[in-house]
Amino acid sequence: MKAFNDLADFSNEEISALLELADRLDSQPEPEALRGKVLSLLFLSPSLRTLASFQAAMTRLGGGSFVISPDMSIHGLETRPGIVMDGAAAEHIREAVPVIASYGDAIGIRAFAERKNLETDLAETEFSALIDLIHTPYINMESAMNHPCQNLADWKTLDDLGVPANGGKFVLSWAYHPKALPLAVPSSTLHMAAKRGMDVTVLRPEGFALPDVLMQKASEAAAKSGGSIQESDNRKEAMEDAHIIYAKSWSSTKYYGDKLGDQKAREELIDWCVDDPWFDNAQDDCRFMHCLPVRRGVVVSEPVLDGPRSVVIHEARNRMLAQMAILHQMLGGTS
Ligand code: CP
Repeated sequence: MKAFNDLADFSNEEISALLELADRLDSQPEPEALRGKVLSLLFLSPSLRTLASFQAAMTRLGGGSFVISPDMSIHGLETRPGIVMDGAAAEHIREAVPVIASYGDAIGIRAFAERKNLETDLAETEFSALIDLIHTPYINMESAMNHPCQNLADWKTLDDLGVPANGGKFVLSWAYHPKALPLAVPSSTLHMAAKRGMDVTVLRPEGFALPDVLMQKASEAAAKSGGSIQESDNRKEAMEDAHIIYAKSWSSTKYYGDKLGDQKAREELIDWCVDDPWFDNAQDDCRFMHCLPVRRGVVVSEPVLDGPRSVVIHEARNRMLAQMAILHQMLGGTS
């Protein structure tokens, strides 16, 4: 495996094989599998789970890792192309990224969307420019529109819970958040659930529809896997017979890059906080999923988050197991 960038690059059979490997590595540890291997981790955006779970995954497989982020005592990093570097930044990513990559056998890179221009972010312009600088295998640790490690872990969580692939109802719901957040998790989660063959409803208020190109990508995945895609702004209708509600806030696509417009669009929407009444007509054992971090009492009520429906810690642990499987395949452990 040379790259783990988008679940769309893998067949459902390849995903099943990765998840079987993840289960095997959990039940039958292989602490020597990646002995002597090094994973470089470049975080241009913040993280808790991704940072810790990749380090834990490498350690559990006998390899090592190192982390570089702008918050560390590194030279100030310049990212703009074609700039005369007479300001504060002492180093350009055009040198920094290949140097960091050269110390490892593979590199993980996180770079959130700039969220200035939707077309630029949909085209993954920034992430592609970073990847063009390296020759080692790489892992997308969240880019403008993709978060494939989260998607693989969430697929595993759905399997672990016995949620049906075909016939399972998955509600991806927008939730209130005081800030405009990236589209990577909602867009790639939508695609993941569709690719798994689920009946997916995107529940979102007016102004927060996901871009057509992302809906189209998910529809094509659903068509291949026997799933379906719907959109709704009606909570009660959307939640009927749901097996899963996956909550996430995201930027208004109508006001993308327009901070004030987005703020105005969301200020009336603070009741989009997942709470017990949302589950009234869902399946009795409907579960609550969220990739974390999550704002308590804002995105989801405390009783739901702390209650039996919530599987957020299970999802977070599955990040480590899913990434162990990716690293095992990528860095030459036996599959
Ligand atoms: N879910 C997730 O990617 O978490 P972090 O942002 O903490 O890495």
